[in-house]
This record gives sequence, structure tokens and C-alpha cells, in this order.
Amino acid sequence: MKTILLNGSPKGNVQSSGSYILAKAFVSGMKAPCEIRSIYGEDRQKLLQYISQFEQVIFITPNYIHSIPARTLAFLYDLPKGSEGQSLGFIIQSGYPESKESEISSRFFKRLADRLQYGYLGTVVKGECAGLAIMPERFGKLEKKFAELGAWYEEHGHFDETYVRDFAKPYAISKPMALLLNMTNPIGNILGWHKIMKANDAYHSRRDMPYLD
Ligand SMILES: Cc1cc2nc3c(=O)[nH]c(=O)nc-3n(C[C@H](O)[C@H](O)[C@H](O)COP(=O)(O)O)c2cc1C
Repeated sequence: MKTILLNGSPKGNVQSSGSYILAKAFVSGMKAPCEIRSIYGEDRQKLLQYISQFEQVIFITPNYIHSIPARTLAFLYDLPKGSEGQSLGFIIQSGYPESKESEISSRFFKRLADRLQYGYLGTVVKGECAGLAIMPERFGKLEKKFAELGAWYEEHGHFDETYVRDFAKPYAISKPMALLLNMTNPIGNILGWHKIMKANDAYHSRRDMPYLD
């Protein structure tokens, strides 16, 4: 089983990309070496050509604006028809905790694999990952789970359903929780974002709308 991971974050394969951090955790659980390439910063046609030698291609991408980054989407649109034994898998990680944020993308991934006649390894959706690159020390447990997912994948050739179900929780937050978050959000802004903005001398321009004109 020859697998490659493709990082769909515009940040590329750098430590500030949550996708890259999770991709590394995933392959750390695998015994065979597994390459992680970045879609951004590489020539699309050359990378498409390169991945054609792999049996399994796993995309790990962030959710950007309820979808996925544009160049990653364009890359998927350019995928050729799959040949015998080739499969696609997808991991999408997002900032908001609800996996419904990524539901449209998940459905699209499955349909794409079917239409292009690839096997389908599944789609993992994981929310609440915005802090991954900023506070990696708080995400040790998640990285360990991704390493376990990688190990299970290598052994079985697809994603473990139990993990997929677990990562996807919550599908949607409850109404009381949404109410509570709406009430506490302003406090969070003051303690969190405002502090970061002040530290970066950006507090005074927090209401700027440079693209409005
Ligand atoms: C431009 C932009 C748009 C985003 N849009 C969403 C969104 O619609 N829903 C969501 O849950 N997270 C959203 N996020 C949060 C990212 O999915 C999250 O921070 C992710 O971990 C970033 O991964 P990366 O570091 O690999 O790019 C957005 C982040 C950025 C920078």
C-alpha cells in the first residue's frame, strides 16, 4: 500500500499549519515512511503527475469559509480518473467545533471519489482545531489520536469508523450551549483576542474594513 498525504492549507508544510501538524501526527503512527506534500507552492500539473504513482492519496485540508481553500479545490477538480486500485481519503479540520461546518465538503469528497472511479477511504472531520498551531501543547491528546488513526489506517487500508464518528462530535452544538457561548463570547474577546491585538499593536484598527470600498 503506497500512500501519500497532501496538505491543502495555503500555509504549506510549516509548523503554523494545523493541517501539517495533524498530517505529521497521522504518519507518525505508520510504520512505513509516508511523504507529506503541500498543494500550495507546488506546480499543480507536476504534483498531479507525481501522485499518480501512489495507490492511496489522502488529502488533509482546513475548512476555510465553510468550504476548503481555493487552490486545493482546483487541485481536486483537476484530478484525473482513478486507475485500478487507486483510492482517495480526506481529512478536514476546522476552527469551529461543529462538524456540520464541513458537511458539504465531506459529501463532495465522497461524490468526487465515486465519479472519478477511485476507491473511497472515508472522510475524517475534526472541529475545534484553530488553536492547534498557536498552542500545540494543548493538543497532545489529539495528535496521539491522529497517530492511532494513522496506525489503524496502515493496517486496514481505510479510516477507523469509531474514530471518524468520535472526531465528528459534536455535529452541532446544543441550543443552551449556543446561548451560553453568545453570552460569554464578549468576555472571551476581551481576555483573548483583545490581548493579542494589543500585544501586536493592532487594537486600534480592530474595526477597520479595508475591502469595503
Ligand atoms: C481565511 C480563513 C477562513 C476560515 N473559515 C473557517 C470556517 O468557515 N469554519 C471553520 O470552522 N473554521 C474556519 N477557519 C479556521 C480554520 O479551519 C482552522 O484554523 C484550521 O485549523 C486552519 O488550518 P491550517 O493552519 O492548516 O490552515 C478559517 C480560517 C481562515 C484563516
